[in-house]
Amino acid sequence: MDSHELENTRIAFSKFATGVCIVTAAVDGKPVGMTVSSFNSVSLDPPLVLWSVGKHAPEYAAFCGVKNYVVHILSSDQIALSNRFATPGIDKFDSLDYELSGQNVPLIAGAITRFHCSTVHNYPAGDHNILVGSVDEIEQGRGESPLIYYCSDYRSVGEAIAG
Ligand SMILES: Cc1cc2nc3c(=O)[nH]c(=O)nc-3n(C[C@H](O)[C@H](O)[C@H](O)COP(=O)(O)O)c2cc1C
Repeated sequence: MDSHELENTRIAFSKFATGVCIVTAAVDGKPVGMTVSSFNSVSLDPPLVLWSVGKHAPEYAAFCGVKNYVVHILSSDQIALSNRFATPGIDKFDSLDYELSGQNVPLIAGAITRFHCSTVHNYPAGDHNILVGSVDEIEQGRGESPLIYYCSDYRSVGEAIAG
């Protein structure tokens, strides 16, 4: 595709509103994490989720190699955290208050829900890999005001409309 087609495709893809998550893991005891909007639920029984990691992402090798990771669904007051975990080349965990799970995965506070997952499938897909995770534990967090990403802007959920 030429650059014009790429940009048109990127804009068209951005018209699908999503939530925003931070996915964390540990590689040789070192915390890794990145912001993702590609998260989705797949199967209820057994509980499975998916998300995709770009081959360009600094964390690509890490997330393709780890078994355990935690998906944090972000709240609308966590934009700074989302931007931090989308910034390449910085120490994303510097001065950040976090705990460790039983598998040594960093747990960031303030998320709406946390899913503790283990990878069961890893499918190459173009310039990304699709990672399917089995949900091993769910932690319900606080509030009901998720962070939304739409047309490259952060938003919050609007009024419910009658169906
Ligand atoms: C709201 C938002 C959603 C994102 N979703 C994804 C995603 O689903 N998968 C992914 O690989 N990168 C995603 N990114 C990009 C990564 O968080 C990160 O910025 C990128 O990997 C940094 O490397 P780069 O600048 O070389 O692309 C997202 C970034 C933002 C701000």
